Amino acid sequence: MRILRRPHSLPPFFLLLALGAFAQDTIKVGEVASLTGKEASFGQSSHKGTLLAIEHLNTAGGVLGKKFDLVTEDNQSKAGESATAARKLLSRDKVVALLGEVASSRSLEIAPVAQAAKIPMISPASTNSTVTETGSYIFRVCFIDPFQGTVMAKFALKRGWKKVATLISVSSAYSVGLGKYFKETYTTGGGALAAERTYVESDKDFKAQLTAIKAAGVDAIFVPGYYNECALISKQARELGLTVPLFGGDGWESTALLEIGGTAVEGVFFSTHYSSEDAAPAVQAFVQAFKTRWNGETPDAMAALGYDSALVLADAMKRAGTADAVKLRDALAATKDFPGVTGKTSIDAQRNATKAAAIFTVKNGKFAFVESIAP
Ligand code: PHE
Repeated sequence: MRILRRPHSLPPFFLLLALGAFAQDTIKVGEVASLTGKEASFGQSSHKGTLLAIEHLNTAGGVLGKKFDLVTEDNQSKAGESATAARKLLSRDKVVALLGEVASSRSLEIAPVAQAAKIPMISPASTNSTVTETGSYIFRVCFIDPFQGTVMAKFALKRGWKKVATLISVSSAYSVGLGKYFKETYTTGGGALAAERTYVESDKDFKAQLTAIKAAGVDAIFVPGYYNECALISKQARELGLTVPLFGGDGWESTALLEIGGTAVEGVFFSTHYSSEDAAPAVQAFVQAFKTRWNGETPDAMAALGYDSALVLADAMKRAGTADAVKLRDALAATKDFPGVTGKTSIDAQRNATKAAAIFTVKNGKFAFVESIAP
Protein backbone atom coordinates (compact mmCIF):
# COMPACT_ATOMS: atom_id res chain seq x y z
CA MET A 1 0.00 0.00 0.00
CA ARG A 2 1.36 3.37 -0.97
CA ILE A 3 0.97 6.20 1.48
CA LEU A 4 0.77 9.60 -0.08
CA ARG A 5 1.62 12.49 2.15
CA ARG A 6 -0.03 15.73 1.28
CA PRO A 7 2.36 18.69 1.44
CA HIS A 8 0.87 21.21 3.87
CA SER A 9 1.31 24.13 1.55
CA LEU A 10 -0.65 22.64 -1.37
CA PRO A 11 -4.43 22.61 -1.45
CA PRO A 12 -5.86 19.15 -2.34
CA PHE A 13 -7.04 20.39 -5.73
CA PHE A 14 -3.52 21.13 -6.94
CA LEU A 15 -2.27 17.86 -5.61
CA LEU A 16 -4.91 15.97 -7.56
CA LEU A 17 -4.02 17.95 -10.65
CA ALA A 18 -0.36 17.11 -10.23
CA LEU A 19 -1.14 13.43 -9.66
CA GLY A 20 -3.35 13.36 -12.71
CA ALA A 21 -0.63 14.78 -14.90
CA PHE A 22 1.85 12.28 -13.50
CA ALA A 23 -0.48 9.34 -14.05
CA GLN A 24 -0.82 10.23 -17.71
CA ASP A 25 2.90 10.62 -18.16
CA THR A 26 3.63 7.00 -19.02
CA ILE A 27 1.83 3.98 -20.37
CA LYS A 28 2.00 1.25 -17.77
CA VAL A 29 2.45 -2.28 -19.03
CA GLY A 30 2.28 -5.18 -16.58
CA GLU A 31 4.47 -8.26 -16.67
CA VAL A 32 4.14 -11.47 -14.68
CA ALA A 33 7.31 -13.58 -14.69
CA SER A 34 9.07 -16.30 -12.70
CA LEU A 35 12.03 -14.11 -11.75
CA THR A 36 12.91 -16.42 -8.87
CA GLY A 37 12.27 -20.02 -7.90
CA LYS A 38 12.36 -23.22 -9.88
CA GLU A 39 11.98 -21.78 -13.40
CA ALA A 40 13.88 -18.56 -12.72
CA SER A 41 15.83 -19.14 -15.93
CA PHE A 42 12.58 -18.85 -17.93
CA GLY A 43 11.39 -15.73 -16.12
CA GLN A 44 14.76 -14.00 -16.18
CA SER A 45 15.15 -14.61 -19.90
CA SER A 46 11.71 -13.40 -20.90
CA HIS A 47 11.98 -10.42 -18.57
CA LYS A 48 15.35 -9.35 -19.95
CA GLY A 49 13.98 -9.55 -23.49
CA THR A 50 10.79 -7.70 -22.60
CA LEU A 51 12.61 -4.95 -20.71
CA LEU A 52 15.09 -4.49 -23.56
CA ALA A 53 12.19 -4.00 -25.98
CA ILE A 54 10.57 -1.45 -23.65
CA GLU A 55 13.88 0.42 -23.43
CA HIS A 56 14.27 0.37 -27.22
CA LEU A 57 10.71 1.63 -27.65
CA ASN A 58 11.30 4.41 -25.14
CA THR A 59 14.56 5.45 -26.79
CA ALA A 60 12.63 5.76 -30.03
CA GLY A 61 10.18 8.09 -28.28
CA GLY A 62 7.58 5.62 -27.01
CA VAL A 63 4.11 5.58 -28.55
CA LEU A 64 1.31 8.13 -28.61
CA GLY A 65 3.81 10.67 -27.32
CA LYS A 66 4.34 8.72 -24.11
CA LYS A 67 7.00 6.43 -22.72
CA PHE A 68 6.33 2.94 -21.45
CA ASP A 69 6.70 1.92 -17.83
CA LEU A 70 7.11 -1.85 -17.35
CA VAL A 71 5.80 -3.01 -13.97
CA THR A 72 6.94 -6.55 -13.21
CA GLU A 73 5.55 -8.97 -10.63
CA ASP A 74 7.47 -12.11 -9.68
CA ASN A 75 5.38 -15.26 -9.12
CA GLN A 76 8.40 -17.14 -7.75
CA SER A 77 7.63 -20.01 -10.18
CA LYS A 78 4.87 -21.04 -7.78
CA ALA A 79 1.43 -22.32 -8.73
CA GLY A 80 -1.31 -20.03 -7.47
CA GLU A 81 0.77 -16.81 -7.44
CA SER A 82 0.22 -15.61 -11.01
CA ALA A 83 -3.45 -14.70 -10.73
CA THR A 84 -2.72 -12.65 -7.60
CA ALA A 85 0.15 -10.94 -9.38
CA ALA A 86 -2.06 -10.13 -12.37
CA ARG A 87 -4.81 -8.73 -10.14
CA LYS A 88 -2.28 -6.52 -8.39
CA LEU A 89 -1.04 -5.13 -11.70
CA LEU A 90 -4.58 -4.44 -12.85
CA SER A 91 -5.98 -2.85 -9.72
CA ARG A 92 -2.92 -1.19 -8.18
CA ASP A 93 -1.01 -0.15 -11.29
CA LYS A 94 -3.88 0.12 -13.77
CA VAL A 95 -1.74 -1.42 -16.50
CA VAL A 96 -3.12 -1.23 -20.04
CA ALA A 97 -1.96 -4.74 -20.95
CA LEU A 98 -0.34 -7.80 -19.41
CA LEU A 99 2.75 -9.52 -20.81
CA GLY A 100 3.41 -13.07 -19.65
CA GLU A 101 3.59 -15.73 -18.47
CA VAL A 102 5.83 -18.03 -20.39
CA ALA A 103 4.91 -21.32 -18.67
CA SER A 104 1.49 -22.48 -19.85
CA SER A 105 0.11 -23.53 -16.45
CA ARG A 106 0.83 -20.05 -15.11
CA SER A 107 -0.56 -18.31 -18.20
CA LEU A 108 -3.72 -20.32 -17.61
CA GLU A 109 -3.95 -18.68 -14.17
CA ILE A 110 -3.58 -15.16 -15.54
CA ALA A 111 -5.79 -15.49 -18.62
CA PRO A 112 -9.17 -15.63 -16.81
CA VAL A 113 -8.19 -12.55 -14.75
CA ALA A 114 -7.24 -10.56 -17.87
CA GLN A 115 -10.33 -11.76 -19.73
CA ALA A 116 -12.67 -10.82 -16.87
CA ALA A 117 -11.08 -7.37 -16.65
CA LYS A 118 -11.11 -7.06 -20.45
CA ILE A 119 -7.45 -6.10 -20.53
CA PRO A 120 -5.32 -7.61 -23.31
CA MET A 121 -2.81 -10.27 -22.29
CA ILE A 122 0.02 -11.43 -24.53
CA SER A 123 1.91 -14.56 -23.61
CA PRO A 124 5.36 -14.52 -25.18
CA ALA A 125 5.96 -18.26 -25.09
CA SER A 126 3.09 -20.34 -23.69
CA THR A 127 2.42 -22.98 -26.30
CA ASN A 128 -0.48 -24.89 -24.74
CA SER A 129 -3.44 -24.45 -27.08
CA THR A 130 -6.00 -23.78 -24.32
CA VAL A 131 -4.29 -20.55 -23.14
CA THR A 132 -5.78 -18.33 -25.86
CA GLU A 133 -9.06 -20.28 -25.81
CA THR A 134 -9.75 -18.54 -22.48
CA GLY A 135 -11.19 -15.57 -24.37
CA SER A 136 -11.03 -12.75 -26.85
CA TYR A 137 -8.47 -10.68 -24.90
CA ILE A 138 -5.84 -13.44 -24.72
CA PHE A 139 -3.06 -13.51 -27.33
CA ARG A 140 0.32 -15.11 -27.88
CA VAL A 141 3.23 -14.44 -30.21
CA CYS A 142 4.49 -18.04 -30.49
CA PHE A 143 3.40 -21.26 -32.18
CA ILE A 144 1.20 -23.77 -30.35
CA ASP A 145 1.74 -27.37 -29.23
CA PRO A 146 -0.35 -29.11 -31.90
CA PHE A 147 2.39 -27.82 -34.26
CA GLN A 148 5.31 -28.44 -31.91
CA GLY A 149 4.09 -31.99 -31.12
CA THR A 150 3.76 -32.73 -34.82
CA VAL A 151 7.24 -31.37 -35.53
CA MET A 152 8.83 -33.67 -32.95
CA ALA A 153 6.73 -36.70 -33.97
CA LYS A 154 7.81 -36.29 -37.59
CA PHE A 155 11.38 -35.81 -36.45
CA ALA A 156 11.23 -39.12 -34.53
CA LEU A 157 9.71 -40.95 -37.48
CA LYS A 158 12.31 -39.49 -39.84
CA ARG A 159 15.09 -40.69 -37.56
CA GLY A 160 13.65 -44.19 -37.80
CA TRP A 161 12.66 -44.38 -34.13
CA LYS A 162 9.92 -47.00 -34.35
CA LYS A 163 9.34 -47.57 -30.64
CA VAL A 164 9.28 -44.57 -28.35
CA ALA A 165 8.49 -44.05 -24.67
CA THR A 166 6.93 -40.88 -23.25
CA LEU A 167 7.58 -39.41 -19.82
CA ILE A 168 5.09 -36.66 -19.06
CA SER A 169 4.63 -34.23 -16.16
CA VAL A 170 0.96 -34.56 -15.23
CA SER A 171 1.02 -31.33 -13.20
CA SER A 172 2.01 -29.25 -16.22
CA ALA A 173 -0.59 -28.26 -18.82
CA TYR A 174 2.26 -27.80 -21.26
CA SER A 175 3.67 -31.29 -20.76
CA VAL A 176 0.30 -33.05 -20.97
CA GLY A 177 -0.73 -31.12 -24.11
CA LEU A 178 2.56 -31.53 -25.94
CA GLY A 179 2.60 -35.24 -25.05
CA LYS A 180 -0.90 -35.67 -26.46
CA TYR A 181 -0.15 -33.98 -29.78
CA PHE A 182 3.14 -35.85 -30.12
CA LYS A 183 1.37 -39.16 -29.57
CA GLU A 184 -1.33 -38.43 -32.16
CA THR A 185 1.06 -37.72 -35.01
CA TYR A 186 3.63 -40.30 -33.99
CA THR A 187 1.20 -43.22 -33.80
CA THR A 188 -0.73 -42.12 -36.90
CA GLY A 189 2.61 -42.05 -38.72
CA GLY A 190 3.27 -45.68 -37.78
CA GLY A 191 5.29 -45.27 -34.59
CA ALA A 192 4.57 -47.36 -31.51
CA LEU A 193 4.40 -45.95 -27.98
CA ALA A 194 5.98 -48.77 -26.03
CA ALA A 195 5.77 -47.12 -22.60
CA GLU A 196 3.87 -44.13 -21.25
CA ARG A 197 5.05 -42.94 -17.84
CA THR A 198 4.37 -39.82 -15.80
CA TYR A 199 5.84 -37.64 -13.06
CA VAL A 200 4.88 -34.47 -11.23
CA GLU A 201 6.69 -31.10 -11.19
CA SER A 202 9.54 -30.94 -8.68
CA ASP A 203 10.05 -34.72 -8.66
CA LYS A 204 13.71 -35.55 -8.27
CA ASP A 205 13.75 -39.32 -8.65
CA PHE A 206 12.71 -40.81 -11.99
CA LYS A 207 14.39 -44.21 -11.62
CA ALA A 208 11.18 -46.25 -11.36
CA GLN A 209 9.77 -44.78 -14.58
CA LEU A 210 13.11 -45.10 -16.38
CA THR A 211 13.53 -48.71 -15.28
CA ALA A 212 10.13 -49.55 -16.80
CA ILE A 213 11.07 -47.67 -19.97
CA LYS A 214 14.36 -49.56 -20.18
CA ALA A 215 12.51 -52.86 -19.88
CA ALA A 216 10.25 -51.85 -22.80
CA GLY A 217 13.28 -51.65 -25.11
CA VAL A 218 12.63 -48.35 -26.90
CA ASP A 219 14.53 -46.43 -29.60
CA ALA A 220 14.12 -43.04 -27.91
CA ILE A 221 12.32 -41.26 -25.04
CA PHE A 222 10.08 -38.22 -25.55
CA VAL A 223 10.12 -35.94 -22.49
CA PRO A 224 7.95 -32.83 -22.96
CA GLY A 225 9.13 -31.19 -19.75
CA TYR A 226 11.02 -28.20 -18.37
CA TYR A 227 14.80 -28.05 -18.14
CA ASN A 228 15.19 -28.95 -14.45
CA GLU A 229 13.43 -32.28 -14.69
CA CYS A 230 14.70 -32.95 -18.22
CA ALA A 231 18.29 -32.62 -17.00
CA LEU A 232 17.71 -34.94 -14.04
CA ILE A 233 15.85 -37.46 -16.19
CA SER A 234 18.75 -37.49 -18.68
CA LYS A 235 21.25 -38.06 -15.88
CA GLN A 236 19.31 -40.86 -14.27
CA ALA A 237 18.64 -42.53 -17.64
CA ARG A 238 22.38 -42.68 -18.29
CA GLU A 239 23.03 -43.94 -14.77
CA LEU A 240 20.62 -46.79 -15.43
CA GLY A 241 22.46 -47.66 -18.63
CA LEU A 242 19.75 -46.29 -20.92
CA THR A 243 21.70 -44.95 -23.88
CA VAL A 244 18.88 -44.15 -26.33
CA PRO A 245 18.30 -40.49 -27.32
CA LEU A 246 16.04 -38.28 -25.24
CA PHE A 247 14.07 -35.56 -26.96
CA GLY A 248 11.47 -32.95 -26.15
CA GLY A 249 10.10 -29.47 -26.82
CA ASP A 250 10.93 -25.85 -26.02
CA GLY A 251 10.96 -26.48 -22.26
CA TRP A 252 14.44 -27.99 -22.63
CA GLU A 253 16.02 -24.74 -23.78
CA SER A 254 17.95 -23.19 -20.94
CA THR A 255 21.66 -23.00 -20.29
CA ALA A 256 20.72 -24.48 -16.90
CA LEU A 257 19.97 -27.73 -18.76
CA LEU A 258 23.66 -27.91 -19.73
CA GLU A 259 24.82 -27.00 -16.23
CA ILE A 260 22.62 -29.55 -14.44
CA GLY A 261 22.73 -32.26 -17.10
CA GLY A 262 26.45 -32.15 -17.96
CA THR A 263 27.51 -34.96 -20.25
CA ALA A 264 24.17 -36.76 -19.78
CA VAL A 265 22.44 -34.26 -22.09
CA GLU A 266 24.88 -34.81 -24.96
CA GLY A 267 22.88 -35.91 -28.00
CA VAL A 268 19.42 -34.87 -26.79
CA PHE A 269 17.12 -33.11 -29.29
CA PHE A 270 14.49 -30.46 -28.74
CA SER A 271 12.39 -28.00 -30.68
CA THR A 272 12.33 -24.29 -29.97
CA HIS A 273 11.34 -20.93 -31.42
CA TYR A 274 14.45 -19.31 -32.84
CA SER A 275 18.19 -19.57 -33.19
CA SER A 276 20.57 -16.89 -31.94
CA GLU A 277 22.86 -18.00 -34.79
CA ASP A 278 20.31 -17.07 -37.44
CA ALA A 279 22.19 -14.76 -39.83
CA ALA A 280 19.15 -12.53 -40.42
CA PRO A 281 20.20 -8.91 -39.68
CA ALA A 282 17.25 -8.38 -37.31
CA VAL A 283 18.26 -11.41 -35.25
CA GLN A 284 21.93 -10.42 -35.11
CA ALA A 285 21.10 -6.83 -34.15
CA PHE A 286 18.92 -8.17 -31.32
CA VAL A 287 21.58 -10.65 -30.15
CA GLN A 288 24.19 -7.88 -30.04
CA ALA A 289 21.90 -5.44 -28.22
CA PHE A 290 20.92 -8.11 -25.70
CA LYS A 291 24.54 -9.06 -25.04
CA THR A 292 25.49 -5.43 -24.51
CA ARG A 293 22.56 -4.83 -22.15
CA TRP A 294 22.84 -8.09 -20.18
CA ASN A 295 26.46 -8.75 -19.47
CA GLY A 296 27.38 -10.76 -22.55
CA GLU A 297 24.49 -13.20 -22.20
CA THR A 298 23.22 -14.84 -25.40
CA PRO A 299 19.43 -14.49 -25.66
CA ASP A 300 17.47 -17.75 -25.78
CA ALA A 301 14.04 -18.28 -27.35
CA MET A 302 12.24 -16.92 -24.35
CA ALA A 303 14.24 -13.72 -24.40
CA ALA A 304 13.49 -13.30 -28.10
CA LEU A 305 9.78 -13.95 -27.62
CA GLY A 306 9.65 -11.60 -24.62
CA TYR A 307 11.20 -8.94 -26.84
CA ASP A 308 8.68 -9.58 -29.62
CA SER A 309 5.71 -9.58 -27.23
CA ALA A 310 6.41 -5.98 -26.20
CA LEU A 311 7.02 -4.86 -29.79
CA VAL A 312 3.78 -6.42 -30.99
CA LEU A 313 1.91 -4.65 -28.18
CA ALA A 314 3.47 -1.28 -29.07
CA ASP A 315 2.72 -1.79 -32.76
CA ALA A 316 -0.95 -2.50 -32.00
CA MET A 317 -1.11 0.58 -29.78
CA LYS A 318 0.29 2.72 -32.56
CA ARG A 319 -2.27 1.41 -35.02
CA ALA A 320 -5.09 1.77 -32.48
CA GLY A 321 -4.00 5.32 -31.71
CA THR A 322 -4.90 4.65 -28.08
CA ALA A 323 -4.16 2.39 -25.14
CA ASP A 324 -7.90 1.97 -24.60
CA ALA A 325 -8.56 -1.75 -24.04
CA VAL A 326 -11.24 -2.42 -26.65
CA LYS A 327 -9.43 -0.68 -29.50
CA LEU A 328 -6.11 -2.11 -28.39
CA ARG A 329 -7.60 -5.62 -28.42
CA ASP A 330 -8.96 -5.11 -31.91
CA ALA A 331 -5.63 -3.81 -33.17
CA LEU A 332 -3.80 -6.76 -31.62
CA ALA A 333 -6.22 -9.14 -33.31
CA ALA A 334 -5.48 -7.43 -36.64
CA THR A 335 -1.68 -7.86 -36.33
CA LYS A 336 -0.34 -8.96 -39.68
CA ASP A 337 3.25 -9.74 -40.71
CA PHE A 338 4.78 -7.73 -37.90
CA PRO A 339 8.55 -8.21 -38.30
CA GLY A 340 10.20 -9.34 -35.07
CA VAL A 341 13.16 -11.36 -33.91
CA THR A 342 11.29 -14.68 -34.03
CA GLY A 343 9.96 -14.13 -37.53
CA LYS A 344 6.85 -12.38 -38.73
CA THR A 345 3.96 -12.29 -36.29
CA SER A 346 0.45 -12.59 -37.69
CA ILE A 347 -2.35 -13.11 -35.21
CA ASP A 348 -4.92 -15.64 -36.46
CA ALA A 349 -8.62 -15.96 -35.60
CA GLN A 350 -7.73 -17.98 -32.48
CA ARG A 351 -5.29 -15.23 -31.38
CA ASN A 352 -2.26 -17.46 -31.96
CA ALA A 353 0.81 -16.90 -34.11
CA THR A 354 2.18 -19.28 -36.71
CA LYS A 355 5.95 -19.54 -36.81
CA ALA A 356 8.72 -21.93 -37.78
CA ALA A 357 10.28 -24.26 -35.22
CA ALA A 358 14.00 -24.82 -34.84
CA ILE A 359 15.42 -28.16 -33.74
CA PHE A 360 18.57 -28.23 -31.62
CA THR A 361 20.83 -30.89 -30.21
CA VAL A 362 23.53 -30.72 -27.54
CA LYS A 363 27.05 -31.22 -28.86
CA ASN A 364 30.26 -30.82 -26.86
CA GLY A 365 28.37 -29.13 -24.05
CA LYS A 366 26.71 -26.57 -26.32
CA PHE A 367 23.41 -26.15 -28.14
CA ALA A 368 23.81 -26.86 -31.85
CA PHE A 369 21.24 -26.02 -34.52
CA VAL A 370 19.98 -29.04 -36.47
CA GLU A 371 17.20 -27.80 -38.75
CA SER A 372 14.33 -25.39 -39.14
CA ILE A 373 10.80 -26.67 -39.72
CA ALA A 374 8.38 -24.38 -41.54
CA PRO A 375 4.78 -24.28 -40.32
N1 PHE B 1 6.22 -23.37 -24.18
C1 PHE B 1 6.41 -23.55 -22.78
C2 PHE B 1 5.06 -23.59 -22.10
O1 PHE B 1 4.09 -23.30 -22.72
C3 PHE B 1 7.25 -22.47 -22.18
C4 PHE B 1 8.55 -22.27 -22.84
C5 PHE B 1 8.66 -21.39 -23.90
C6 PHE B 1 9.67 -22.94 -22.42
C7 PHE B 1 9.89 -21.15 -24.55
C8 PHE B 1 10.89 -22.74 -23.03
C9 PHE B 1 11.03 -21.84 -24.11
O2 PHE B 1 4.91 -23.89 -20.97
